[in-house]
Amino acid sequence: TEDPQQQIERIYKIKKHFGKDLFLVAHHYQKDEIVQFADATGDSLKLAQIAATNKEAKKIVFCGVHFMAETADILTEDKQQVILPDPSAGCSLADMANSFQVTKAWNYLEKKYGPDIMPLTYVNSSAAIKSFVGQKNGIVVTSGNAPQIVAWALRHSKHLFFLPDQHLGRNTALQLGVSPGELGVWNPLTETLIAQKPAAVKVILWDGYCSVHQQFTPGQIANLRAHYSDIKIIVHPECSHAVVAAADEVGSTAAIIRYLTQAPAGARIAVGTDNNLVRRLQRRFTDKKIMLLNPIACSCVLMNRIDLPHLAFTLDNLLQDPAALNIIKVDDQTAFWAKKALDKMLTLS
Ligand code: 13P
Ligand code: SF4
Repeated sequence: TEDPQQQIERIYKIKKHFGKDLFLVAHHYQKDEIVQFADATGDSLKLAQIAATNKEAKKIVFCGVHFMAETADILTEDKQQVILPDPSAGCSLADMANSFQVTKAWNYLEKKYGPDIMPLTYVNSSAAIKSFVGQKNGIVVTSGNAPQIVAWALRHSKHLFFLPDQHLGRNTALQLGVSPGELGVWNPLTETLIAQKPAAVKVILWDGYCSVHQQFTPGQIANLRAHYSDIKIIVHPECSHAVVAAADEVGSTAAIIRYLTQAPAGARIAVGTDNNLVRRLQRRFTDKKIMLLNPIACSCVLMNRIDLPHLAFTLDNLLQDPAALNIIKVDDQTAFWAKKALDKMLTLS
């Protein structure tokens, strides 16, 4: 096995060789061993915006997960190549909804609530789901703009069908004044709608969740509050509503970073999201007492599949064996409709 220092030096050298033709982006959850090479870091919204505006890079090395690389491919020009350093870096939440299941659910819901129903999908979904949503005049949402986009959707449609993360959907709907009785959950395995009063349902949530953010509980928050009376808690909206309700703040990864940047020196803040990011923030803001809401929660194992050896291997292949690169290419028909739903979101963001 090769010395990591050699890999680091080679990555810098190959990046320099390609200059502006190569652009390396990294999601905030990536490990420091990757983030050190990033030309841009961001949350999902920012990474989508970067992809939509960067016209000069011929090759975009995307250090994040599969749906993010697909989104970048959809939003960049055809001649730009998007490369994901490890094909197995997926997202278990995105994998919880496939086209077959979604079409079945839609057929049922459209019969029940149509024509006044609009599909929305969290950006953490496959290109195929975004395409389905685009074909049905729906829109994409990210954690950074969910309140804005869902409020817009509620003004335009009586019923919303929110895919695939039930927690982001529930947290956002409740924040906007939708009552718990107006929420329903579609279970794709039993193909049933679970609701107190189906006739009163405004927002139908897909029964999906993120396994990383499921690891935070209201008990962890209560425990920290019992020990530290001055503590503030900020969590990602993929956490359950009970966790969000017990926290002081909720926000996307970019919003969490903003919050910590603006907090005064000495502030004690616990953060409920991927621990790679929280540990980086602990190292960055040494004048603040930043804590992990759940120290034993795993960071996202799928994001972590992008590591130094995979990145070095990818950059080597850019020079030596381009045929071995893991290029993410969404087919034209899927991309066309997915882009409609993404563009609608970007215009409103
Ligand atoms: P952000 O859009 O907040 O960066 O979140 C992406 C993600 O995958 C959270 O789990
Ligand atoms: Fe997907 Fe959760 Fe990992 Fe984010 S943290 S990429 S939602 S599995």
